[in-house]
Amino acid sequence: MTACTIDFEPVGRRGECQNNESLLACARRLGVGISSVCGGKGTCHSCKVQVLSGTVSKPTPNEREAFTSQELKEGWRLACQTYPLSDCKLTVPPESMTTTQRIQVEGLEVKVHPEPPVRAYRIQMEAPSLSAPDADADRLLQVLNQQHQLNCGKIDINVLRVLSTQIRSWNWEFQAVVRNDEVIALLPQSSHQLGLAIDLGTTKIAGYLINLSDGLTLAAKGVMNPQISHGEDIISRITGVVHSPDDGMLLQKLAVEAINGLCADLCAEANAGIEEIVEAVVVGNTAMHHLFLGLPVKQLALSPFVPAVSRAVDVKAGDLGLHISPGAYVHLLPNIAGFVGADHVAMLLATEVLPAKIPVVALDIGTNTEVSLIHDGKITSTSCASGPAFEGGHIKYGMRAATGAIERLRIVDDIIQYQTIDGAPPIGICGSGILDALSQLYLTKVIDEGGRITDNHPRVRTYKGQREFVLVGKEERGGKPAITITQHDIRELQLAKAAIRSGIQTLLEASGCPEDKIKQVIIAGAFGTYIDVASAVTIGMLPSLPLNRFQQAGNAAGMGAKLALISLTKRAEAQVVASRVKYIELAGAPGFDQTFIQASYLGQYRIIDGKREEID
Ligand code: FES
Repeated sequence: MTACTIDFEPVGRRGECQNNESLLACARRLGVGISSVCGGKGTCHSCKVQVLSGTVSKPTPNEREAFTSQELKEGWRLACQTYPLSDCKLTVPPESMTTTQRIQVEGLEVKVHPEPPVRAYRIQMEAPSLSAPDADADRLLQVLNQQHQLNCGKIDINVLRVLSTQIRSWNWEFQAVVRNDEVIALLPQSSHQLGLAIDLGTTKIAGYLINLSDGLTLAAKGVMNPQISHGEDIISRITGVVHSPDDGMLLQKLAVEAINGLCADLCAEANAGIEEIVEAVVVGNTAMHHLFLGLPVKQLALSPFVPAVSRAVDVKAGDLGLHISPGAYVHLLPNIAGFVGADHVAMLLATEVLPAKIPVVALDIGTNTEVSLIHDGKITSTSCASGPAFEGGHIKYGMRAATGAIERLRIVDDIIQYQTIDGAPPIGICGSGILDALSQLYLTKVIDEGGRITDNHPRVRTYKGQREFVLVGKEERGGKPAITITQHDIRELQLAKAAIRSGIQTLLEASGCPEDKIKQVIIAGAFGTYIDVASAVTIGMLPSLPLNRFQQAGNAAGMGAKLALISLTKRAEAQVVASRVKYIELAGAPGFDQTFIQASYLGQYRIIDGKREEID
């Protein structure tokens, strides 16, 4: 084995790599965020890098498929398939980076009366004396219970470790933070009691620092989930853990480290101390929830896809490695099923759909799309494997929502009008742009309802045996390759949108609710927030309803986490929501295959008894 030195540009990271370690594995080890949608199988093409100097292994069949011979000559390679044979210098292009993605932290604001699970009590203690020599902890509990009519009997071990020193340094006057019958933290008199709400997404992590006394958000921020370097979708990460159990520990550590970094940034912004954070709530899909807690995940990917635990969990922050007050608890909202997790419960909580008298569809679109139908006071939910296409995965020029991504697009005659993130020159196309492109190509009859690219436009060409539509030509990009939508891309998008639509359809059929009776469609999540709903309706991804029935809710899961942090009533409500949901597994739903095929067609339609009825 030979050790080679690898330079990753433009991130400026350098490190050693054995020649039996792939460039992707080396990047992960060095903390260089290279995208890997398929988890390193060589099929997603998201880990493209350019080898600028040095010698590497010969291209694999997957790489020959991903690149032209010219691109291979220019050094373009898939990092997961390539091994160094000498010292190398690489460029990681922006579309392959996992950082600098637009992170969404805003959501619907729902007002709630603060009723947190922790409360701080002011304490004034006497110093011990020879006539009253009881232990500091005993005297603290006695004073606390007497002065505030409580019945506390426990003190967290982390508090015990510092208690004697701290109360003396505070001259016997301080605050004791109590949760149920336990003292979980001691704070100086002047401190606030803060809470941390986290939406732990597969791709992104959103964090909120909250003042528990008034429920106000002091700071909000998002970061990328560093687990991405171990596979962008849940299944890739679960597969990785199944094959290499140590990966489970590593993924847990990565999530915790990212949350610790986020927490430090939030505290710096709010000028607060991390020891003032005395309660946290974390929501995520079931796989993220399990990975965060270090629970087994193999059973999530095997029929009948059961979680290790579905009820709410309270765990000490110190046991997870979270850098907040070490005696503080982290509360995880309940999960619904293997693929519908606490984040969906949080979304339902935030959007206040439970008492709905009218039929409401609530969906959170992502690599996995969770959908709920609230009808006749009942909630049915399902999970659709919509795949990474709307996050740019498996799409030739697809990329996540980062600088230079085309996010809006219109076709006017031969002209393509587009808008990129940050107004930068286009380098690819993100989910909302992809959705617009599909809708525009359909409306201008460049593609037919079956998704086939026709000859109806001068921008249609055949390139390397495949039909494609040129969005931004080579000449418009100063000689760089044209940005196109290929026939293969369109097939991927049809599968993604069919998964979502057939999920909605299956819930409607199971509940006996006709589609046109839906009065409200709530779309949550980052992708759902930025899409043009009209485009989604045009391609038949969403039901054909008046546009005023659609509501884009932003990060409703994060909002739900905030509510559960501030209010015990909301926390109890989350438990009720989760317990009332009837989960429907799509694979076992009658007629699902037929519904899926019908839902893959483009255009506006209703599906009745497995048959499609066009809507003009
Ligand atoms: S092709 Fe390399 S990670 Fe998917």
